[in-house]
Amino acid sequence: MAVLDCARGLLAHELFSQVDLHRLYGGVVPELASRDHVQRLLPLVRQALAKAGTTASQLDGVAYTAGPGLVGALLTGAALGRSLAYALGVPAVPVHHLEGHLLAPLLEDRAPPFPHLALLVSGGHTMLIVVRALGDYQLLGETRDDAAGEAFDKSAKLLGLPYPGGPELARLAEQGRAGVFEFPRPMLDREGFEFSFSGLKTAVMLAVREAGAAMNEPLRANIARGVQEAIVDTLVGKTARALDETGLLHLVVAGGVSANRALREALQAAATARGAEIYFPRFEFCTDNAAMIAVAGMARLQQGGAATHLAIEARAQWPLMSLRAPGVQ
Ligand code: KG4
Ligand code: ZN
Repeated sequence: MAVLDCARGLLAHELFSQVDLHRLYGGVVPELASRDHVQRLLPLVRQALAKAGTTASQLDGVAYTAGPGLVGALLTGAALGRSLAYALGVPAVPVHHLEGHLLAPLLEDRAPPFPHLALLVSGGHTMLIVVRALGDYQLLGETRDDAAGEAFDKSAKLLGLPYPGGPELARLAEQGRAGVFEFPRPMLDREGFEFSFSGLKTAVMLAVREAGAAMNEPLRANIARGVQEAIVDTLVGKTARALDETGLLHLVVAGGVSANRALREALQAAATARGAEIYFPRFEFCTDNAAMIAVAGMARLQQGGAATHLAIEARAQWPLMSLRAPGVQ
């Protein structure tokens, strides 16, 4: 839950993490996630309003995540968001999860100008996008199979790390030696901006199998380091090519994997070498959060993009490229 004021900025940002619940099962169990949302949502609304020093009656609109994602979890939030807006007599704004990620850097003092290049790397998506304006997106390329975050998570699982795998693997990689394990960097030598990460988990599986009983902490750390290097190299290689080919001088990096320090450093170096400026959300706004949904919702609301109907919108599938600027058919 976040409270955003167009003049004063972010007034409150409250997160109830379900990580402890999901860790018990080694991943998200959709039904448990939805049921937990039902219990957490209203107290979190009260908490966020109290922190912001405001009341619900002062709100001018309510943005909620309408998808894409797990439909049960989306429905609980969408039902609350839509109902709250109805009860308060204010507009509701159904927000695209990935548009939230793309616009998260707008929450920072140094906000990126349009047009810019965006690398969107999350648990479900890996995309290079030219962002011309709100709702005006051109997809340069995306993953053919696993997303970058998924590659982190699956490799982490193979290494026996707890949920959530990505950050755990990144932590372990810090202790590993570079270059001991050379995992494949698929598509890097090919033209275009497509990615493929599904082969990585097979390579990691083979490395783990080969280690067998000899597996120990230093070896695991070296494998983790190799995985991170392969993912980072691939992402940086394609992003650098996209900067070169588009000539864009502003790069946004967003989505959960943008919290990865090795990726941030390597992309920073690639951008600097090209005289380009780079923009990241602050760490807590890289992974899923309400502040990014608020900023995307406000941008749409200000441009006349509120819902004109009372439907509760929750979509498991919703291509980012089907979005348009508010008012554009
Ligand atoms: O955007 P996000 O919170 O949720 C989705 O929309 O998917 O991204 C979550 C993904 C997970 O795959 C998680 O492992 C990855 O982001 N992630 C990281 C790091 N922090 C989160 N991957 C690598 N290094 C990190 N520090
Ligand atoms: Zn996300």
